[in-house]
Amino acid sequence: MLQRLDKLISSQGKYSRKEAQELIKSGAVKVDGIAVRDRGAKVDDSTCSVSINGEEMKLEKFVYLMLNKPKGVVSATNDGTNKTVIDLISDEYKGRNLFPAGRLDITTTGFVLITDDGDFAHRILSPKNHIEKTYEARLAEAVTEEQLRAVAEGIVLKDGTECLPAKLRVLESGENPLVEIKICEGKYHQIKRMFAAAGNGVIELKRTKMGGVELDNNLSEGEFRPLTPDEVKLVENG
Ligand code: URA
Repeated sequence: MLQRLDKLISSQGKYSRKEAQELIKSGAVKVDGIAVRDRGAKVDDSTCSVSINGEEMKLEKFVYLMLNKPKGVVSATNDGTNKTVIDLISDEYKGRNLFPAGRLDITTTGFVLITDDGDFAHRILSPKNHIEKTYEARLAEAVTEEQLRAVAEGIVLKDGTECLPAKLRVLESGENPLVEIKICEGKYHQIKRMFAAAGNGVIELKRTKMGGVELDNNLSEGEFRPLTPDEVKLVENG
């Protein structure tokens, strides 16, 4: 696609539009090896190479980041009170219109996918596409076979909302069992409300996987990293 050089540079997130214009004016920007000082020059983003002070820019259309969300952070782009998942992303991405593809509650931890690709977000969140989100839930009480069956079969929440069947696996039994649960939907407080409807409760919740991609256990809470191109595909096709 043909687009303005200053817009292309700022869309990569590292430089603001104004900074991109300054760089272009100063002669620091080369397109296909030739210095271009016209900020409005039209360039083809799919074929051109752009370098800034001799360093080639990797031109990415969209950004896909895996964040390990801590407690106390909200899954929003801005919030008057609490820190948001976007506040945890470094300035390198400041020019991007990033948002979380799916929300976790303020007390839930784990994998949040941050992107600026709206179509991708829509595809991975739509229940129609059956992309599983995997969670580990620490329950308030010992879990019964009946509770597990009710959630696995598709439970009706206390307000009458019907949930699709979920996949369940008990990872640790006991007084406060740890249960892995996979769902393809993202209703408000869904997992907490599913277990509440079954007669139990959730005291800790962590998202461990989106589609075929596991949360990288090298990421401490609050840290993020870009997904590899293969991982981006695996989210949808895992
Ligand atoms: N279900 C919940 O109850 N909370 C979350 O954060 C995600 C799924």
